Amino acid sequence: MKSKAEIKRIGVLTSGGDAPGMNAAVRAVTRTAAAMGIGCLGIRRGYNGLINGDVVELGSRSVDGIMRLGGTMLYTARCEEFLGPDGQKKAADTCRYLGIDCLAAIGGDGTFRGLLDLSKLGIKTVGIPGTIDNDIPCTEYTIGFDTAMNTALDAIDKLRDTMQSHERCSVVEVMGHRSGNLALNVGIACGATAIIVPEKNVDLEQELLEKIRTARIHEKNHHMIIAAEGVNKMDEIVRFIKHSAGIDVRATVLGHVQRGGSPSARDRIMATQMGSYAVECVASGKSMRVVCVRGGKICDLDISEALKMEWRFDEALYESSKIVSI
Ligand code: F6P
Repeated sequence: MKSKAEIKRIGVLTSGGDAPGMNAAVRAVTRTAAAMGIGCLGIRRGYNGLINGDVVELGSRSVDGIMRLGGTMLYTARCEEFLGPDGQKKAADTCRYLGIDCLAAIGGDGTFRGLLDLSKLGIKTVGIPGTIDNDIPCTEYTIGFDTAMNTALDAIDKLRDTMQSHERCSVVEVMGHRSGNLALNVGIACGATAIIVPEKNVDLEQELLEKIRTARIHEKNHHMIIAAEGVNKMDEIVRFIKHSAGIDVRATVLGHVQRGGSPSARDRIMATQMGSYAVECVASGKSMRVVCVRGGKICDLDISEALKMEWRFDEALYESSKIVSI
């Protein structure tokens, strides 16, 4: 394997919210690059590191043992300065100064928008999707989603034990500031009585209360309600159930615990495949691409096209979740 595109050095960074599996992707980028005779620089603290020249040399041995670690060894950040033209120019200048021929960035839509800005300044770029929310329109999978689902599920299974003993209702908020994808999947996996997501308007009186009542008629005397963070109605939902359903209710916000932990086998494998693909993609001469999973296969798309795509909530999965909820 040799780089056809004359890439001598690749830079890799992680940006936005961290996700389990980011380290596995950094490892794959580093080692695939090494196998092609391409050098690798780790850029620390997202785009801040590009502006400040905060970098670390990466080689096959420096990424030993990181695959099983949660978080990101490169640190991550959201960078205000990079949003403006001055910050972007500084970042592009750093790339040229450090001899970074191509930049690979692991993160979400915001991270890819940053790559697009750098591409316009003449830097070769490739994006790798990493967010526990799995809400990037161009790809069916984002690194971290599987681990986050399992982390949430583990906590919810424990909650269910105590809810069952006390015949209570548990309302659990899972992450997902703009999408209910994590909530939907976690809700199905834990056998939730109801799943509340920002993509769907739920009438508390007509739907939620009705669900709980029907469940009780069917002798179900404890309930798990999963709400996505983006719904932003935890207090209202809890108050409503308490006053209208006549059942003892407890609220739990799972929060950032969902972003931590050792990545699952699936996330390690996806991150490895996507990281390697990203390097092969730019080494073949492509640039301004984002690695995606489409139709179950890893492929790449133009970043600007990818960013124009609209998020599509899985309506069919949501509808089928209702059938099996009681
Ligand atoms: O990683 C995505 C996400 O988990 C969102 O669901 C959540 O709203 C956000 O990150 C919170 O991130 P932070 O607290 O780091 O700003």
